[in-house]
Amino acid sequence: MCNAEVPVLTLDGPSGAGKGTVARLVSESLHWHLLDSGAIYRVLALSAERAGVAMDDVTALLGIARTMVVDFRLDERGKLQVLLDGDDLTKAIRSETCGKRASQVAALPAVRGALLQCQRAFRRPPGLVADGRDMGTVVFPDALVKIYLTASVEERARRRYKQLMEQGISGTIRPILREIEARDVRDCTRSVSPLVPAPDAVILDTTGKSVEAVVNMVLSQIRRCSGYTL
Ligand code: DC
Repeated sequence: MCNAEVPVLTLDGPSGAGKGTVARLVSESLHWHLLDSGAIYRVLALSAERAGVAMDDVTALLGIARTMVVDFRLDERGKLQVLLDGDDLTKAIRSETCGKRASQVAALPAVRGALLQCQRAFRRPPGLVADGRDMGTVVFPDALVKIYLTASVEERARRRYKQLMEQGISGTIRPILREIEARDVRDCTRSVSPLVPAPDAVILDTTGKSVEAVVNMVLSQIRRCSGYTL
């Protein structure tokens, strides 16, 4: 199977729409690889911060982006771990500060271009579930199934808050809600790869839906496509 024949499911949408959880469960169910592209932007932002590089220093950011080797693996409890050159950055990249910086570096066209190959390298047999903002529009335009997950801002803020609490990171809902709104504006209005559904994406609003219900809807979309049998 050549790379272009490897089936891809893209899951795009704003922060907190449930993409991460749904992507992990669908990839487990299908035994497909998983790409958390937001984590790649977060790792870049964290690496830059640790190296004393400003989030608008394009030359220095490109130097890091072109050489970093990011990998994902599931731990014994089925949680996704994010590794940079073997170092576990899973917790460090999930802070709100890191998310904000990731959004800043993600707005730089040259940085996005430099990370394309790194993301496409995750397309390996038997298939790939790719979670992000521009998976269906830019990175994998020929994906088998494209889904755009969304949910109300309030619900997304509540989910993010719960997630942070579970990770032992303290905070309150109001600043999280404001940060999500600000990030939505940045992600939707940037000139390169703005957050928009691909014209051929199926739009799923997850507000008030259980994770299980959303996973089943996504799996049934895959079953419906190209006679793909699971
Ligand atoms: O999904 P996330 O919150 O981990 O993503 C962090 C930031 O990275 C988010 O503000 C937008 C950006 N991002 C992007 O621009 N394109 C992607 N494919 C994934 C994330």
